[in-house]
Amino acid sequence: MYAHYSAYVSGIHRSHLATHFNNEVTESITHAATVRAAIVKLDGEAITERDSTVIPHTSDYLEMLKEAYKTEKKASETYGRILPMIQEIGDSELYDALEVIYFDELRSVEELRMMLK
Ligand SMILES: [Fe+2]
Repeated sequence: MYAHYSAYVSGIHRSHLATHFNNEVTESITHAATVRAAIVKLDGEAITERDSTVIPHTSDYLEMLKEAYKTEKKASETYGRILPMIQEIGDSELYDALEVIYFDELRSVEELRMMLK
């Protein structure tokens, strides 16, 4: 989604938002690597299939930001549900790694909320 929106964002906000979306791409790749390592550590099998959520095509930056907000909210809620499970298995290294992502997602939600204000 972020790579798509980075390419299509236009107008006066392009410079700022293309950079913002590209930074989110980089953050997402970093998060995915952490999650992949966690899955391997727990003897799971990491899949490479993309989530089925549709990426709505738009050139309206407000729509892009609203989609980004929904995505970040969902991600923060997902990590919020995962953390207690990791706490239960007592792996503090893994808990710390995923908590970092959780806080990244919460910060993104707040940043987008402010951008949409
Ligand atoms: Fe995120």
